[in-house]
Amino acid sequence: MEAILTQAKPASTLPLSKQLKLSTHAAHERVDKAIMALSPFANLDGYKRFLTVQYQFQHHTAPLYQQADLCEWLERLEQRCRFNAVKLDAKDLSINQEELNVSLASPPPIDSLAAALGWLYVNEGSNLGAAFLLKSAAQLGLSANFGARHLAPSDSGRGLHWRYFTAQLDALSLSDEQKDQALQGARDAFKFVESLALKNL
Ligand code: HEM
Repeated sequence: MEAILTQAKPASTLPLSKQLKLSTHAAHERVDKAIMALSPFANLDGYKRFLTVQYQFQHHTAPLYQQADLCEWLERLEQRCRFNAVKLDAKDLSINQEELNVSLASPPPIDSLAAALGWLYVNEGSNLGAAFLLKSAAQLGLSANFGARHLAPSDSGRGLHWRYFTAQLDALSLSDEQKDQALQGARDAFKFVESLALKNL
């Protein structure tokens, strides 16, 4: 892993959640740009393109939220899954299942528990920026009850929900190799979302 120096401390001594943020900042910027290129809030067609990306990302990560060994590592992980919410959003907007599954790219494999932590970090983190996206979706008449359920905050609120997730992530005692796998998993996840956005342009 390339050493990323941040002021005095080398990145590898930082908590995993901070290492993930540092090492994926540029990837997040690229995803942000690729999502906005879909003009998700210009009109409903644009939003449907965005929703298709969200559906395919949630479809690929949904099994992780049911995986016993990950649920042992991360308490109440099952309750965080937003795949059902995005399926209901697609139904609200009459996007049929075939359309959603047509261009389901062959997603990159998630081939270790530690890599899965990286994918979960990207999925859970994406709910932070969703605060802004939900506001924009409201201009199209969408809400947490119709068409934009998957952008809604959890009952405990976005901040607390996120901090609880990162605290559990940072409390895991992982080897350096596992931390590298988690970082690569997060990079793969962002790359996958970017490729989905480009595919749905
Ligand atoms: C146009 C779309 C997006 C916007 C405007 C946006 C915006 C944001 C904002 C404002 C934050 C909080 C940053 C902070 O507190 O430091 C954030 C965090 C994050 N976003 Fe996005 N986001 C977008 C799309 C996405 C997507 C599609 C994903 C992944 C699928 C994603 C993954 C993340 C992650 C992982 C974090 C947590 C970073 C951290 O604090 O460690 N974002 N986003």
